[in-house]
Amino acid sequence: MVRCPGLGDNNFSPVSPNIVTLQATVYVPPHPLIQHWLGVVRDRHTPGALFRPALGELGRWLTYEAVRRDWLPLTATTVETPLAAATATFIDPMVPVVLVPILRAGLTLLEGSQNLLPLARVYHFGVVRDEATLEPTIYLNKLPAQLDPDTRVLVLDPMLATGGTLMAALEALVSRGAQPAYIRVVAVIAAPPALQKITRHYPQVQIYTAGIDETLNEVGFIVPGLGDAGDRSFGTM
Ligand code: PRP
Ligand code: MG
Repeated sequence: MVRCPGLGDNNFSPVSPNIVTLQATVYVPPHPLIQHWLGVVRDRHTPGALFRPALGELGRWLTYEAVRRDWLPLTATTVETPLAAATATFIDPMVPVVLVPILRAGLTLLEGSQNLLPLARVYHFGVVRDEATLEPTIYLNKLPAQLDPDTRVLVLDPMLATGGTLMAALEALVSRGAQPAYIRVVAVIAAPPALQKITRHYPQVQIYTAGIDETLNEVGFIVPGLGDAGDRSFGTM
């Protein structure tokens, strides 16, 4: 069962009612802007010049949804307004916030995410999936040797297909001290194999995605999906 904890008038729900075997905490925010930009990136006729900024918008709005509940630590203090003292709440500057874009396609989500979290550190993580075996190979890892266990981590990758790429990133993060409970993933389309894999190994990791699609085809593409996000973003079809 996809767990979508009750959120009162903001209840999130999975797009597909047929995904019944998942245990992951997966959120599909029912935001009209997210739905709109998802439609734009799904459309094969959307040119690269619009595809890339559309993914940027999805990065922005999915980040907004991913950070809004029980993740960013806040700290209260007193400020002087022009009239009097007032209690004010700020993001706690002592707790590190980290963005991990998965190259290449994750770069498209980064700008929108960074606009909302301008003080976040950005650690690039490059992974390429072998087109035949679908196995991931890490070719760049800019993570520091050790992460503060309080670090809030947002992993950015538009596509979760077999889940091999995300698993490689999560393993690298956790082996450096990141806590799964503080890791959230921003994706655009997620497929059941990836969600099942992440659930099995990292049940505390929350995934925020614009849509959940039914299947992978014989060459590991999400169907209906949106094609190859990296190639469409960077004009390398
Ligand atoms: C794609 C996509 C994800 C990954 C998903 O990247 O952007 O990172 O595949 O597949 P998986 O869940 O089966 O591992 P790709 O390897 O094509 O690299 P790119 O982003 O450079 O295009
Ligand atoms: Mg690609």
